[in-house]
Amino acid sequence: MINNKILITYASRAGSTAEIAEAIGKSLSQGDTQVEVLPMQDVKDLSVYRAVVAGSAIRNSKWLPEAMQFVRTHRAVLSQKPFATFTVCITLAMSNTDQYRQAVAVWIQPVRVLVKPVSEGLFAGILDFNKLPLNWDTVKLRAVVALGIFPKGDRRDWKAIQAWAESIHPLLLQ
Ligand SMILES: Cc1cc2nc3c(=O)[nH]c(=O)nc-3n(C[C@H](O)[C@H](O)[C@H](O)COP(=O)(O)O)c2cc1C
Repeated sequence: MINNKILITYASRAGSTAEIAEAIGKSLSQGDTQVEVLPMQDVKDLSVYRAVVAGSAIRNSKWLPEAMQFVRTHRAVLSQKPFATFTVCITLAMSNTDQYRQAVAVWIQPVRVLVKPVSEGLFAGILDFNKLPLNWDTVKLRAVVALGIFPKGDRRDWKAIQAWAESIHPLLLQ
């Protein structure tokens, strides 16, 4: 029997990437496709999945450490399955032009060299200081917002997320 189970796994700090993973999962659970959405630390065995979608929030121009670790740990198995990535950051809320998308694409080069994805989703996230702790990193971030470089608020584009999920569905089942 053909296994049509897809894993959507994510690394998130403040929850916006987790919610995007849920939305991708919802969109992919059509027909006889089964979907599981799990934080990366809860994933043990990839052998039961036909395809894997892995997503991370960006902090300081990098995927979160546990997301990089996930790809390193499972590199061999992921290379044998359809594998897609998505990346969530605030830069794409500044402008979603090619220039910015290319800059963000450079941040995920370390992932791409480990496992070549069939597709890479790039999405704007959230910058909400009410939900972030006060520390040196977030103080620096407040300064970047005060300078008008990064925007604030919930900048997720649910239509773009849905459109990407629909576009990868056939690639994940090939
Ligand atoms: C400490 C910190 C550092 C961040 N660094 C970057 C960055 O370098 N580039 C960027 O585009 N967004 C950056 N962001 C924005 C996050 O990627 C964005 O808030 C994302 O939605 C967070 O995902 P999460 O809610 O799943 O944790 C940063 C956010 C925080 C809190």
